[in-house]
Amino acid sequence: MLNNNNHEHQFNIDKFYKNYLKGSKIFSNRDALDSSYIPEELPHRDSQIRYIAEKTACALLGDTPPNFLCYGMTGTGKTATIRYVSQKLAQQNSEIKPWWIYINCNIISTPYRILAHIYNTISRRDKIPPTGLPKDIIFKKLLGLLDLKVGHSICFLVLDEIDILVDRKGGNEILYDLTRLNENLDNCKTSLIGISNKLKFRANLDPRIISSLGEEHIVFPSYDANELRDILIERAKIAFQESVLKEEVIPLCAALAAKEHGDARKALQLLRKAGELAERDQNKIVSTKHVKKAQEDLENDHIMEYIKGMPLQAQLILTSIYLISRFSPEHIIISGDIYDVHSEIRGLIPGVRQLTKRRISDYINELSLAGIISAEIKSMGHYGRTKIIKFDIGLELLEKVLSEIEKINGIMNHKPVFLQTDKVKLKNNIFKKLI
Ligand SMILES: Nc1ncnc2c1ncn2[C@@H]1O[C@H](COP(=O)(O)OP(=O)(O)OP(=O)(O)O)[C@@H](O)[C@H]1O
Ligand SMILES: [Mg+2]
Repeated sequence: MLNNNNHEHQFNIDKFYKNYLKGSKIFSNRDALDSSYIPEELPHRDSQIRYIAEKTACALLGDTPPNFLCYGMTGTGKTATIRYVSQKLAQQNSEIKPWWIYINCNIISTPYRILAHIYNTISRRDKIPPTGLPKDIIFKKLLGLLDLKVGHSICFLVLDEIDILVDRKGGNEILYDLTRLNENLDNCKTSLIGISNKLKFRANLDPRIISSLGEEHIVFPSYDANELRDILIERAKIAFQESVLKEEVIPLCAALAAKEHGDARKALQLLRKAGELAERDQNKIVSTKHVKKAQEDLENDHIMEYIKGMPLQAQLILTSIYLISRFSPEHIIISGDIYDVHSEIRGLIPGVRQLTKRRISDYINELSLAGIISAEIKSMGHYGRTKIIKFDIGLELLEKVLSEIEKINGIMNHKPVFLQTDKVKLKNNIFKKLI
């Protein structure tokens, strides 16, 4: 029978929903901190807005704007600025309404899919299938459609994260084809806008493409802490209830994001996460304590994502180091230990190859470069040199992420043989100790 005397310890679902419906005491419009939100104003992007407006304005009169590139580190407002200008352009009272086709080359990544996406965005009814048509047929269909549907107007093709396309097979070729579209069109004209956060990606471009795409460009410099503060102040006015942010919260978010190359996305994420942490704790005020915790959480998320994306062999090296630390926290870990434990655990997972000492050393270097471990080289005198390995991230965090990797979850309790008192390893064979 249910015990009814325990009311105060039970989760009161009715009260929860009632409070929930009253709305957040922290946020008034949480979405305003989302990366897809386009604000009314973009502080500190005046010269970029002006450049893009000047380049694209002639489209309103039916003339062909030049192709150009936008460069800048991640989170410097490239995508937001292009979307902002395209919205403003669309709001103008002109007879000609330009088309904007937005392609994120990280998502729409093959030449075929790019052409199909352009076609399918313009054509409402007749669609190009996800695979199967020869490229020249799609091209012909696309040219016909552009002349028919876009007519005497301009079609902007925005290739965001264009560097990813250039690095892919067939990337240069499709870019070249797109820069040549106008030569085969009778009515419509197209204009290409490339966006990249790799400043050096032009080095991989075909010279014929540079001459038509890469000559005109605008740079988006990274924001400093003061600029980030202005951006956050404007967003916070929309996103938060009045007077819930302690005075130091925005300057702290801005300063932390400025340290990481002035990334506005990071600054907004910090502010949002800090607000959510305050909300979860049922605090009425967001304080620097929440920002610091938010920073820690975001860093951990980042590390977890990184580790989950590593190749299995690198994950196994990390697991080897973890297992030694877990079963013998005082043990000074050297590269030879990692080699031994790796060869034990890789044997527990079907199809995983034994690595040479040299490959293991390369993986150790990579993990160290990524800031997950530090590897200090020590001379062992007569015995040569070895690496002494330490973790730069918390063991709990590591345990959490490794156990979330399916193949590794099953070996998380493997005690390295050299730490098992009743076993001994000789020439890679494990024996039970007799005494
Ligand atoms: N000047 C600004 N004013 C207001 N918000 C901004 C400004 N610059 C950037 N942001 C906001 O910061 C976030 C990141 O900006 P955006 O997506 O445009 O960066 P990006 O330069 O395209 O980065 P990436 O190279 O990673 O794609 C977005 O939420 C955007 O609205
Ligand atoms: Mg972008």
